[in-house]
Amino acid sequence: MQSDLPVAKRFVSTADGRPTPEMLAFYEENGFLILEGFASDAACDALKARIAGLVDAFDPESVRSTFSTDDQAHARDLYFKESGDKIRFFFETGAFDAEGELVKPKHQALNKIGHALHDLDPEFDRFSRSEKLSNLAEALGLQDPGLVQSMVIMKQPFIGGEVGMHQDSTFLYTSPMTTTGFWFALEDADQSNGCLIGQAGGHKAGLLERFHYDGDDLIMEKTSDAKPQGPQEALEAPKGTLVVIHGLVPHSSASNTSARSREAYALHMFDRKADWAEDNWLKRASDMPVRGFA
Ligand code: FE2
Repeated sequence: MQSDLPVAKRFVSTADGRPTPEMLAFYEENGFLILEGFASDAACDALKARIAGLVDAFDPESVRSTFSTDDQAHARDLYFKESGDKIRFFFETGAFDAEGELVKPKHQALNKIGHALHDLDPEFDRFSRSEKLSNLAEALGLQDPGLVQSMVIMKQPFIGGEVGMHQDSTFLYTSPMTTTGFWFALEDADQSNGCLIGQAGGHKAGLLERFHYDGDDLIMEKTSDAKPQGPQEALEAPKGTLVVIHGLVPHSSASNTSARSREAYALHMFDRKADWAEDNWLKRASDMPVRGFA
């Protein structure tokens, strides 16, 4: 949906990724920081080509039962729950008919790919573990950054769905809260194709909800009576821009009603000096611990 929000201030990335005092002050005040030109066009294109290759190699037939069995909700649930240390493919709502047949070609039907691309795929590993990003993470106060989650978010032309207002610490909880999102625009993202929307300063209101295991079930638990707050701003991001998102800043994105896709790569880190909540949804096999930049 085309909206008309004020556009958030952008900075030009420094060459080595280390933020200026002005950038740090802006991040502290607003809970997000938009850095143009953080990734080169060539790096974005290489990652996009790799994404296309992953989708080429993916056989939707391999997950057909996941989306067409009688116990569809349960199967889908498991496919998601077990994706924390894998590369799995998630479709837009309505991508399959009642018989489990795709109603669109797979390249146009995917919503996202996640959640361990950065550990399992060499191209994503390289893109995620750059010295520049390490410098930035360190300057933001992540003393022992753990790269815990990665996602390609497709936001397909005409059908890319909206993402409701949420905080990332709801899903990746640590004590104290250290979760930080690093969202790379692989293509221009603006208000016509569903760019991020952030609530400036909203991170100061604390955590509103936690999504966590309760036995074998994942539940959403309200943790505060506060409401998402702060003026909404469009986090428009030309290709190659990195949007840093504080784990507590409420953010969303609108659906993509345009003819242009809005492919993005999102990487989440936490500080391994903090305690990772064992009831978080995201699970890693014991032989695949969360790694840092090394
Ligand atoms: Fe998010």
